Amino acid sequence: MRSELICINASCGSSYAITDVIYNCPKCDGLLEAKFVAPQAAPHELKKLWRERRMSNRPIDQSGVWRYREMLPFAEGDPNIVTLREGNTPLLPAPRAAEYAGMDSITFKHQGFNPTGSFKDNGMTCGATQAMRLGMTRVACVSTGNTSASMAAYAAAAGLNPLIFIPNGNISYGKLAQALEYGARTFQVEANFDQILALVRVLAERLGIYLLNSINPFRIEGQKTIMIEMLDQRDWVVPDWVVLPGGNLGNVSAFGKGLRELLAAGFIDRLPRLAVVQAEGSAPFYEFMKQGGTFHAVHHPETLATAIKIGDPVSWPKAQHEILTTSGVVEQVSEQEIADAKAVIGKCGIGCEPASAATLAGLKKMRGAGVIEKNASVVAVLTGNVLKDPDYIYRYHTSALDAPNGVRLKSTFGNAPVVVPNDADEIARLIS
Ligand code: F0G
Repeated sequence: MRSELICINASCGSSYAITDVIYNCPKCDGLLEAKFVAPQAAPHELKKLWRERRMSNRPIDQSGVWRYREMLPFAEGDPNIVTLREGNTPLLPAPRAAEYAGMDSITFKHQGFNPTGSFKDNGMTCGATQAMRLGMTRVACVSTGNTSASMAAYAAAAGLNPLIFIPNGNISYGKLAQALEYGARTFQVEANFDQILALVRVLAERLGIYLLNSINPFRIEGQKTIMIEMLDQRDWVVPDWVVLPGGNLGNVSAFGKGLRELLAAGFIDRLPRLAVVQAEGSAPFYEFMKQGGTFHAVHHPETLATAIKIGDPVSWPKAQHEILTTSGVVEQVSEQEIADAKAVIGKCGIGCEPASAATLAGLKKMRGAGVIEKNASVVAVLTGNVLKDPDYIYRYHTSALDAPNGVRLKSTFGNAPVVVPNDADEIARLIS
């Protein structure tokens, strides 16, 4: 076995077989991670091999996750791999967004180009593969939408039975529709994300269902390849900053782990600084990193960016470690800042879902406070596709978007459609 599961608690550090069906340490309840055994080949050889695989027609080479399989806790030739050719997401320069944030340049890594339209696919390909390796038949998750869409698709592709639990009325239709279309049994629970996660963990244990939330260490393994691919695309030139939205904090944990492993194995010579941005109404990690002391959950998280409407993020200890290791920062942004930043990303011809726009809103704020230099090289990760939440977009552009506290948001960059009569003269007059 190339790899094992270890408890991240320094005072425990227990190790377990990679095939144990556990999500927390049975001894101390700490979070688990897959321990990575450095590949034998030299970094320059692997960089060359990974580049060559882009020319291959083999599904596992075409996947922007499995292309980097030497960095994953699965054996070469594993027959269980489930791939929808995830990853392969572009780096997009966005001068208008940079101008908005007061920066010289910003590059977006757009995870919305994934098969189900979010970064969850990078993780789910590994999670579903692990479910297959373990011989599981049912998989489950609680989700603010994207995880469920992704899990439903990968489970369907693998022939697994997906069970989805979502907060009733609190996920966008784009995401719910995906889960239904991919055939997942969907339960809309009258509770919030954090409460449902506790519920699902009990059910998973009781019914022997494999849990595919980001507490699952294999999801994290897949998501770390987002950083590997980003660096490969930049010819291994490390950016000064990587900016991402934070909800349950699995993604920042994954990015930090991947970056640390690349540094340890000699692929890069320094770490970028990680910047996590939360929505003001759902920002327990921001508060914790600012105040120190004990971690306090937000009991009634609120934000229109429903993807990150999470008050009690399970992965905060991992996220804290990655922020400290990379000299990172945590910021929070308002509903108005998210909405306007999102419209600016749209005006770049790029587009994203609300949670993703927290990145640009956070960059603008951090630049304004002098935390980020004007000429810093920044990669901001857009986590979800623009079509995930069209209702939000329509409301913003038609001045009908209300924040959770009922306050109507300003349609700063609004672009409302115009109703016109079927009359060429009239329309010509309006256009000219
Ligand atoms: N952006 C989007 C679009 C998301 O869907 C999520 C999380 C995040 C950011 C935050 O990532 O949780 O790793 O800090 N969505 C989860 C879900 C919780 O259920 O789809 P995180």
